Amino acid sequence: MIRDLDLGKKGKKMHEDVQRADVYSLVDKLDRNKELTKDEFIFLIDNRNYLNLEELYQRARDIRHKIYGHDVYLRGLIEFTSYCHNDCYYCGIRKSNSNAERYRLTKEQILSACEAGYALGYRTFVLQGGEDPYYNAEKIADVVRDIRKRFPDCAITLSVGETTKDNYKMWYDAGAERYLLRHETANEEHYRRLHPEYQKLSNRMECLYNLRDIGYQVGAGFMIGSPYQTTECLADDLIFIKDLQPHMVGIGPFIPHHDTPFADKESGTLELTLFLLAILRIMLPEVLLPATTALGTISPDGREKGILAGANVVMPNLSPQDVRGKYLLYDNKICTGDEAAECRGCIDRRIEAIGYKPVISRGDHISKR
Ligand code: 5AD
Ligand code: FES
Repeated sequence: MIRDLDLGKKGKKMHEDVQRADVYSLVDKLDRNKELTKDEFIFLIDNRNYLNLEELYQRARDIRHKIYGHDVYLRGLIEFTSYCHNDCYYCGIRKSNSNAERYRLTKEQILSACEAGYALGYRTFVLQGGEDPYYNAEKIADVVRDIRKRFPDCAITLSVGETTKDNYKMWYDAGAERYLLRHETANEEHYRRLHPEYQKLSNRMECLYNLRDIGYQVGAGFMIGSPYQTTECLADDLIFIKDLQPHMVGIGPFIPHHDTPFADKESGTLELTLFLLAILRIMLPEVLLPATTALGTISPDGREKGILAGANVVMPNLSPQDVRGKYLLYDNKICTGDEAAECRGCIDRRIEAIGYKPVISRGDHISKR
C-alpha cells in the first residue's frame, strides 16, 4: 500500500517533469519559429504554471532591449467622444447604458488638448472615441487635417471603430497614419457572446485588413479574461495576430462596468495579462506593446509590471479634466482626476523608477514594417 502510494507520487512527479520540459520547449520553439500551432498555444497557456515566469519575462525583456533598448514610447490619448452607437456588452459607454454621461469635444477643444500635449512633449496624439454618428467621416477628416497642419512633426493615431475602406482612406489622406482597432476576440463564438448580433467579427477583421492595405500602422488587440473566454479563444487571438502582423497589439484585463450586462463578471488577472505580454513580445519582437490603463487599474503597479514583461508603450491621458471622468469603459479607471501634466510627470517617474526611459519621439524609426 505504502509502496503504491510512493509509486503514485513518483509517477506524478515524472508526469510533471515531462509537462515542464514540454512547456519550456514550446517557449523555445515560439522564440525560434515565431509561431506555434493552436494546440501548442493551448498547451503552453494551460501549463504556464510550470514555467518560471520571472525567467519568461526576462526573456521577453532581453528581446525588447535588443530592439528598443530601455525606451518606453509615450502617446497622448485624447478621448474625444463618449457617444457610441454600438452596444458591446462589456463596455461602459455602450449605447444602452442610459446612465453614462455623454460628452463630445469640439474640434477646438481637441486642438487645444493637442496644444497642451505638445507643450508637455508629446509627439503622438491618439484620438479615441465611441462610434459617434455626429462625428461622421468628413468631420473626423477635418479634425485630422487641422491637427496635421498645426503639428506637422506629430504622428496622428485614430481609434474610432469600424467604417468603410473609403472612409479609412480619406482619414489616411487627411494625415492619420496609425489606427487602433482591437479585434476583441478572434473566436467567432466568443465574439457572439460579447456583442449583439449585428456587430460582426468578420467585419471587424475586414476593417483591420483594409487599414493595413491602405498603409496604416495598425494596432489590433484583445481583452484578457473577458467573460466566456477560454484558452482556445486566446490561442485563436495569437494565431490571428500572427497572421495580421500588426504594428501594435493592445491587450489589457477585462474589468466589469457596473452598468453593463457583465456587471457581475470577474476581472481578468494581472498574471495572465503579463504572461500574454511576454508571449507576444517573444512572438513579435518588434511589436509595439502598450502597458494599458486597464492593467494599471487592476493593480497599482500593473503598468510597471507590464513593461517588465515586455511592454514598451504607455498612453497617458490628455483629455481635458472636466470630461475624463465620463469616458468610463470599466469601473475604477485610474487617472480620471489628474491633469495632463500630472499624468505626464507620474508616468515619467514610474518609468524611470524601474530603470526605463520615457521617450516622446514619434517612435516609428524602428518599427517601419
Ligand atoms: N474592460 C477592459 N477593457 C475594456 N474595453 C472596453 N470595455 C472594457 C472593459 N470593461 C477595451 C476594449 C476596447 C478598448 C478601447 O477598451 O478592448 O477596444
Ligand atoms: Fe495619470 Fe499616473 S498616469 S496619474
